[in-house]
Amino acid sequence: MSNTPIIESKAITIRFGGHVAVNEVSLQIEPFKVKSIIGPNGAGKTTFFNLVSGEYKATSGSVLFKGKDITHLDPADRCKLGIGRSFQLTNIFPTLTVLENVRLSVQSRENVGFDFWRNFRHKYAHLEDEAYDILKSVLMDAKWHDEASNLTHGEQRKLEIAMLLALKPEVMLLDEPTAGMSIEEVPAILDIIKEIKSRSDKTIILVEHKFDMIMAVSDSIAVLQEGCLIANDTPQAIASNEQVRAAYLGGGMKSG
Ligand SMILES: Nc1ncnc2c1ncn2[C@@H]1O[C@H](COP(=O)(O)OP(=O)(O)OP(=O)(O)O)[C@@H](O)[C@H]1O
Ligand SMILES: [Mg+2]
Repeated sequence: MSNTPIIESKAITIRFGGHVAVNEVSLQIEPFKVKSIIGPNGAGKTTFFNLVSGEYKATSGSVLFKGKDITHLDPADRCKLGIGRSFQLTNIFPTLTVLENVRLSVQSRENVGFDFWRNFRHKYAHLEDEAYDILKSVLMDAKWHDEASNLTHGEQRKLEIAMLLALKPEVMLLDEPTAGMSIEEVPAILDIIKEIKSRSDKTIILVEHKFDMIMAVSDSIAVLQEGCLIANDTPQAIASNEQVRAAYLGGGMKSG
């Protein structure tokens, strides 16, 4: 069983009107590895994520989780199975503190409810302890008491990752975790991904445009172009693949 992919798409396809955004993509994701998905703008990367997380329903094809067909499960059920998708910024509660935001994620995992009027300090001390430990793991513990709305953009992205970690997903779908960050903030995200990877208990599927970062963390890289999978190989092989260079890099590698 150890060679069963944790996620597998079989000829997964989605059309929007006449446009085929993801076109018969068959991809196996090995457990406990970092798989990156790259490709030009509009190639279908986010759409592929939406098909894996259940936000979009496939026109045809299927998605498997540990060999089981999950194509017809909704996002909440896929999340319960352990497929975690990074929160969009709108999912952060801006007026709550950093710790409170993470604690709410821990709470939603434990299913103990969202009763804001209870005395959390006594009843939910263990949830706060866990939330604090998660903040430490993403190097955000110093900010635990800050209001989320006061964080920099980069810190908010780290908070999103912390909130995702709080759900204890087996698979983490990270869609451009460094988008909109300043150059100085990028290494912190890279370190967090490396740290999660070093624990070898999660599978990460990463979409990123920063090629240096992709090369630094990926075990393997899939390349999408106009909805089609055009390559799926080791980082080294991808970096020297002429078709990929032509399609994605436009002759010059983006770095950052
Ligand atoms: N809900 C939708 N309705 C119509 N078209 C959509 C929808 N979602 C995605 N698309 C289209 O599917 C194609 C792929 O978009 P997608 O967002 O997956 O690209 P991407 O590879 O993530 O690009 P980027 O690097 O810019 O984030 C685009 O042409 C997009 O306009
Ligand atoms: Mg996208």
